[in-house]
Amino acid sequence: MEKIKIFAPATVANVSCAFDVLGFPLQETGDVMTFLKTSETGVKIRMLGNSNLPTEAERNVAGVVALAMLERKSSGFGVEIEIDKRIKPGSGIGSSAASAAGAAFGMNLILGEVFNQNELIEFAMLGEKLASGVAHADNVAPCITGGFALVRSYEPLDVIRIESPDELYVTILHPQIEVKTSDSRRVLKKELPLKTAVKQWGNIASLISALHTSDYELLGRSLEDIIIEPIRSVFIPLFYEVKQAAKDAGTLGSGISGSGPSIFALSKGLETATKAAEAMKKVYAQTDIEFDIHVSKIAATGCRLL
Ligand code: HSE
Repeated sequence: MEKIKIFAPATVANVSCAFDVLGFPLQETGDVMTFLKTSETGVKIRMLGNSNLPTEAERNVAGVVALAMLERKSSGFGVEIEIDKRIKPGSGIGSSAASAAGAAFGMNLILGEVFNQNELIEFAMLGEKLASGVAHADNVAPCITGGFALVRSYEPLDVIRIESPDELYVTILHPQIEVKTSDSRRVLKKELPLKTAVKQWGNIASLISALHTSDYELLGRSLEDIIIEPIRSVFIPLFYEVKQAAKDAGTLGSGISGSGPSIFALSKGLETATKAAEAMKKVYAQTDIEFDIHVSKIAATGCRLL
């Protein structure tokens, strides 16, 4: 293919208890990227709109992914990538991941589908490494696979797509304040008491079981994070008030989306998810912080050709 346009979805990573190992994509919120094959070698990046993101390929999240893929394939041509960045950087809904995974997905089409899904995730992780200093895969993996993606292992990379209940919806409140993933990782404790770890992995295991068996009640009980949330929530104004509002609206559970500041809540059915959006909005309407609200079904597909 000479020219293609793709959609790369926003993603929710961690899903409360599953830090760095679980995530899922949204249906309509995401970036749009256009790839044009050029006879001149190298990668050119063009950002649409007013973005402060670097356009030098080596410093751009999509750029590093594209360069690595061109180099691996010794392609002999170059690519121009135009990025319509609709997900705000530092939002907690996988902004860098959409650029990185979108680049991996789009470049693979330009190159003639020479790489498999695992390789695409590995390439996309290079973008995450550039963005946050850590090559975490819990945003890029679901951005490519669609549905819930579980990173069973990083070395070697082993990603498993997990089926999820049909009626599962997410509501996301995105306060317009920027929290850099690199900053919100720096504050985390490097070691854990065994007792804490036991409680957390109990929840992760039951969350996966709940997804498989469509046990909404168990899913709700499993959305508990006793390790990361208590530390990162201090960066998110009215975090616990939003959580309470989501709970009162009947959601299954809620937590920090990725590294924040977005807050997500999962619901059974669109009606509850929409009700939660209203309730969460009301909390933030008391502040002078601007915010966005997204309500979405869990997307079964990740990046897609437009
Ligand atoms: N697992 C990553 C983190 C996700 O929480 O730092 C970042 O979106």
